[in-house]
Amino acid sequence: IKLRQYGRKPQLFRYRGYVFPDFVVNDIKNNLHFEVREDDVWVVSFPKSGTTWLQEIVYLINNGVDVEDAAQTNIEERFPYFEWIVPGKQVLNKMESPRLIKTHLPLSILPNQMKSKKPKIIYIARNPKDTVVSYYFFLTKFVIDDQSFVGSFDDYCKLFVEGLVHYGPWWKHVKEAWDRKDEDNILVVFYEDLQEDVHRAVRDIANFLNKPLTESQVEAIARHCSFDTMKNNKAANYDWLKDVGMAKQEESFLRKGQVGDWRNHLKPEISDQLDEMVASHLEGVPIRGMLTS
Ligand code: A3P
Repeated sequence: IKLRQYGRKPQLFRYRGYVFPDFVVNDIKNNLHFEVREDDVWVVSFPKSGTTWLQEIVYLINNGVDVEDAAQTNIEERFPYFEWIVPGKQVLNKMESPRLIKTHLPLSILPNQMKSKKPKIIYIARNPKDTVVSYYFFLTKFVIDDQSFVGSFDDYCKLFVEGLVHYGPWWKHVKEAWDRKDEDNILVVFYEDLQEDVHRAVRDIANFLNKPLTESQVEAIARHCSFDTMKNNKAANYDWLKDVGMAKQEESFLRKGQVGDWRNHLKPEISDQLDEMVASHLEGVPIRGMLTS
């Protein structure tokens, strides 16, 4: 699919009903044949759904709530992005168990061994209106590279509605996870739930991981993972992208961290189209934060 709005290499590729950038399709065989371990923990999402927030929570649950340890190492090293070029699979293959793995691949395109090894999977979903806004602003933070988006916000919204953005269509990604939510090794959480009651969400996630927490541990995680604390935490806020010249200095990866910021950006027609998308494809899925004011 040729789209002039995507950087210097304006191409997206279709694969099994989804649209991916080149770095995903080029490595798809290695992705599918990756050796899964039973005690892996996978955080899966459509991009900009609160993945990093969930990763930091999962990391702390897994390391006995040692916030000082978490602050020592960049989140991409602690919790590698599976299909990205670096650190990705090379690092994961050598990593000690239990491994924590982030991916934006939809459940149907995860490694074949997921079916037999059944590692724990936590899927996070966010309403599409805030997701599209967050994604657009994220893509504009980069100093131009192959993956960045050079079209306008309106262009981006239209492509998102058509499913023509990286990892799109959004609804299909979410639907797959929701349809499998009752499987023992899968937990589906929503960004809006974390916003509503982060203590409850942290407790639920810890119980799912068979690592129940004391109330003071829950409180410590909630504090360490609040928007303001994470925004200032170099090990979680992706500031290293600025250090290596990939992101613009004035930008912050943790942008607003709110439910409903779409009201400040989305055109009514796009908002309506996203309402329709949810109504027609995601009946019964508790997507929240969508109502027009
Ligand atoms: P906004 O762009 O709306 O601010 P992902 O990690 O999947 O890329 O998602 C990024 C989005 O999650 C951004 O949304 C970011 O600000 C938000 N986010 C990250 N950490 C957060 C936190 N601790 N609390 C609330 N929102 C957070």
